[in-house]
Order: sequence, then C-alpha cells, then structure tokens
Amino acid sequence: MSVDLAVVPVAGLGTRLLPATKSQPKEMLPIGRRPVVQYVVEELSRAGVRRILFITGYGKSSIEDFFDINQQLITNLRRSGKEDQLAELAFERNEVEYAYTRQREQLGLGHAVLVGEPFVGSQPFVCALGDSIIGLQAKSRIVERMIEEFERTKADVIVAFEELTNPAEVVHYGIAQPKGPVTNDIFELESLVEKPAVDEAPSNLAVAARYVFSPAIFDELRRTPRGKGGEIQLTDAMRQVLANGGKGIGIRLPADEPRFDIGNFESYFQAFVDFALADPQFGPGLETYLRKKLDKS
Ligand code: UTP
Repeated sequence: MSVDLAVVPVAGLGTRLLPATKSQPKEMLPIGRRPVVQYVVEELSRAGVRRILFITGYGKSSIEDFFDINQQLITNLRRSGKEDQLAELAFERNEVEYAYTRQREQLGLGHAVLVGEPFVGSQPFVCALGDSIIGLQAKSRIVERMIEEFERTKADVIVAFEELTNPAEVVHYGIAQPKGPVTNDIFELESLVEKPAVDEAPSNLAVAARYVFSPAIFDELRRTPRGKGGEIQLTDAMRQVLANGGKGIGIRLPADEPRFDIGNFESYFQAFVDFALADPQFGPGLETYLRKKLDKS
C-alpha cells in the first residue's frame, strides 16, 4: 500500500518569532490569505496523504480548532448569502482524517517525531514540518515524488534538500553528504552533517522540512541522546540509521519550488511578500504599491 500517513510536528516554542508567537502558534501565522499549516495540509493532501497526525503541545489548540468543521460559521455565512467566504471553508471537507497528540515537553524535533510512534507503529510515514511551505502557494509535487521513490527503493530515509545559492548559509542547516557526485535530482545519501563550517560542508544541499521514513527511525530516536540545546535531534537519528547500513535517498527541490521557512522573521517576511504578490486579486495592486514605495526611497 502506498504511504498515506503523515506526521506533522507543530509543538515547537517558536521563540525566534516572539512576541508574535507568545500566545499563538507560529504554524497559524498567515502567509498571504492562509495560515502556514493550511498550506502544509493542502500539499500533503494533493500528494495522496489521507491520515495526518499532528504533534501539538501547550498553546497550540487553535490548530485543532482550525481543521474542525465549524457548523455555526457555515450557517451564518449561508444565511447572509456570503457565498465567496463560504467557498474559503472548502478545505474543511478534504478527504483527510486528523489525529492529534501532544508533546508534553519541548525536547526537540526528534523527540516530537518519537511522540508519534505509538500511533504510527510499524508503518512508513511522511514527516512534514508544520512551519515550512514548499513552493509558491504550496504547489509542490515533492512529497508525491518522495513517496514514489520510497516505493521504488524501499529506503529507510528519504529527505528533500534545497540547493543553497549562498555557500555561507550551510552553517545554519543540516547538510547532505551524498554518496558520489550529485548529477541528478535524486541521489544516494551517505550521511548528513549538522551545521558544518563553510570549508567542511560536504555539499550545498540543505535539509528542507520534508521526509519519508521507514519505522527504523523510531529505533534510533529512542537511542538518540540529547544533543545541541538539550534537544533530541532528528538529524542525529537519521545519521545513525545511515551509519547502521540503512538506505538513504536525497531529492533536490526544483529551483521553482523553494522552501519557505516560517521559523524566523527574515524568511517569514519574504514568504509573506512572495505569496501576497502572487495573490490573483491583490497581487498586482501590491506590486504597484511596492514599486512606487521603493522608487521613492
Ligand atoms: P524549530 O526547529 O524551528 O524549533 O521547529 P522551534 O522550537 O519551533 O522554534 P525556535 O527555535 O524556538 O524559534 C521546526 C518544526 O518542528 C516543530 C516546530 O513546531 C516546527 O514546526 N517542533 C520543534 C516540535 O514539534 N517540537 C519541538 O520540541 C521542536
């Protein structure tokens, strides 16, 4: 059976976005018209995912509310003839089953994924970070391609990578160590290096918030000691799966399907501008406004 289950960790504290995230999840921040996590779910749903397990935590209940069917709102909109607004709620009816469990202590991304183990059991699954969108309007086929690759290769770890145009940025990311020269969008993964120095980076390919895992990842996560910042790092567990002989595949994101990281203000602002400019109704007006403003400065 094809992989139809995704784990979406959304329990992080989002401290780099304070005070915006003091009393609301960063995954609910709007990018253009929608909250980040809606794009993530739409991307997964288009890729054939039918079951989503959110790893939530303290202060994240608005994510659960968001995916509920709000009958009262629907009735109000219908009564007042607001058909356009009603159409905006169509996502409530997509064919996805939602489940939620809580990470009771924020011990890192690796720990958040491990919290899903009792629910995921021995199935392969997609892992999609709830604070990252892939492609403008989330129109990326990357997860679908990763699932196809999983089925073809039966790899233990499949990771999406983004090519960094500025080599100095490798110090911020988990970086791919490919098995040989990367001549194709799909390549074998030898290992991963977390935040290497510029002259020690084995490539310019940065981990990009989408993964497919066999259940082997749980065995390693359980054994992974707390690393940097006292957190259980997903990269450490992936590296160990590969070191034990597990098969790893990397897939490079196409240049026109960038990763939008909503984890810090710089990339959050850039993502908002890109999505707002692409809005069919308000994008052209915004572009005129920005051009005028920038011409003046
Ligand atoms: P980040 O690595 O950006 O961490 O999370 P963070 O804690 O949310 O943010 P900062 O560093 O305090 O600003 C990447 C993804 O992993 C989830 C987050 O919700 C986000 O979607 N995550 C992270 C968890 O679910 N649990 C954690 O303990 C950490």
